[in-house]
Amino acid sequence: MISEIYETSKKFKLTQRPRRLRRSQALRTLAKETRLSSLDLVYPIFVDARIKSQEPIQSMPGINRLPLSEVHKEALEVSSLKIPAILVFGLPERKDATGTEAYASSGIVQQAIQIIKKTAPQLAVISDVCLCEYTDHGHCGIVKNGSIENDETLNLLGKVAVSQVRAGADIVAPSAMMDGQVKAIRNRLDESNLNETAIMAYSAKFASAFYGPFREAAESTPRFGDRRAYQMDPPNKREALREIALDIQEGADIVMVKPALSYLDIINQARNQFNTPLAAYNVSGEYAMIKAAGNNGWIDEKAVTMEVLTSIKRAGADIIITYFAKDVARQLQATNQ
Ligand code: PBG
Repeated sequence: MISEIYETSKKFKLTQRPRRLRRSQALRTLAKETRLSSLDLVYPIFVDARIKSQEPIQSMPGINRLPLSEVHKEALEVSSLKIPAILVFGLPERKDATGTEAYASSGIVQQAIQIIKKTAPQLAVISDVCLCEYTDHGHCGIVKNGSIENDETLNLLGKVAVSQVRAGADIVAPSAMMDGQVKAIRNRLDESNLNETAIMAYSAKFASAFYGPFREAAESTPRFGDRRAYQMDPPNKREALREIALDIQEGADIVMVKPALSYLDIINQARNQFNTPLAAYNVSGEYAMIKAAGNNGWIDEKAVTMEVLTSIKRAGADIIITYFAKDVARQLQATNQ
């Protein structure tokens, strides 16, 4: 019986045998279509004005909030791992209704940017332009009668961007999902003679439950309601493409899809439809799930991380923002990739 099967299989004259290129690591390397590199990655950090030493973020194992005094160490580490860029989030000393600390020249993010540019000038510094970490109500814009005012918020976002660029930011990344935010920021920067600074627009940012751990990290959970009146509705793909097209028209230099994993179809379509550099944000909940399962011994964390980030690149992202950036860069270094 066994020998019969062997006999018949011997007779096959298959012209195409895809397995031929899977026989060894060297052959698989030659046939590899997508190569993940530390050079594709951006590492997000949280700088907290109220602390003197690092504080772990419970739902994001391995990620800490940093005091200003530890920012230079982090910048050196990121740079030594050949990660080209860092994305800076801030937790201010005080929050208020209009997020004043977001555009203070001595604000926490502004100070952190200065330190990074001084310590590791070769690193590109990207700053998050939003109000939610700085407002006492936790929304991304000005609140009037319980709703988020679009056009009044635009003014403030412009101020935030200018103050961050004056501190040294190379790229500003508006994430508030206000209509016209890219145009408002572009105008404001240009009026301030800052026309060389690029904008990375969070163009298709969905109202996602995957942001949970970030809101713990940044203490930016809205005090009332949610963000569904400004962030996108997850079922909508055509609308996402329209948002991206609008941001390109408004002057975005890089567009983004966020989160990444449940939105790979949108990343892929955006890559096929637009020529603007495309970023994808592998968000906090996506990180937390892998860490939790890995820490429980339920999955192989390193292998899953590689697979996941490679899938985001294969879908079409040029730039991947991920809390795994340092882990992955170390892994790639260790295997000489
Ligand atoms: C700020 C902002 C958020 C994230 C990035 N910028 C939170 C939100 O919109 O609620 C989420 C990032 C993450 O989950 O890793 N608006």
